[in-house]
Amino acid sequence: MTRITACETGALADGEALKIDTPDRQIALFNIDGTFYATDDRCTHGNASMSEGYIEDDGTVECPLHAARFCLKTGAALCQPATEALRTYPVIISEGMVYIDLE
Ligand code: FES
Repeated sequence: MTRITACETGALADGEALKIDTPDRQIALFNIDGTFYATDDRCTHGNASMSEGYIEDDGTVECPLHAARFCLKTGAALCQPATEALRTYPVIISEGMVYIDLE
């Protein structure tokens, strides 16, 4: 398993997202009401960055390119044009830091 350090918990405000580069992929980290979610950054429909999407209070994010919506908890695609789920990753909060398990 590969665990990466994403950021301090205070570095990502409620309702915001952060793109994290790793050697083999880009991750989008979201903060919704103090709960952090991590998904692949690239939309499953096309070449759009989900960390630049529109984050909703209901725990979803809307793709900035064609407006597909995804559940941040499960990654499920909730509407067209996306049909494939975003990959999600476990997030660990410890001592004020946010960690993401990649595998
Ligand atoms: Fe995200 Fe098309 S690129 S919905």
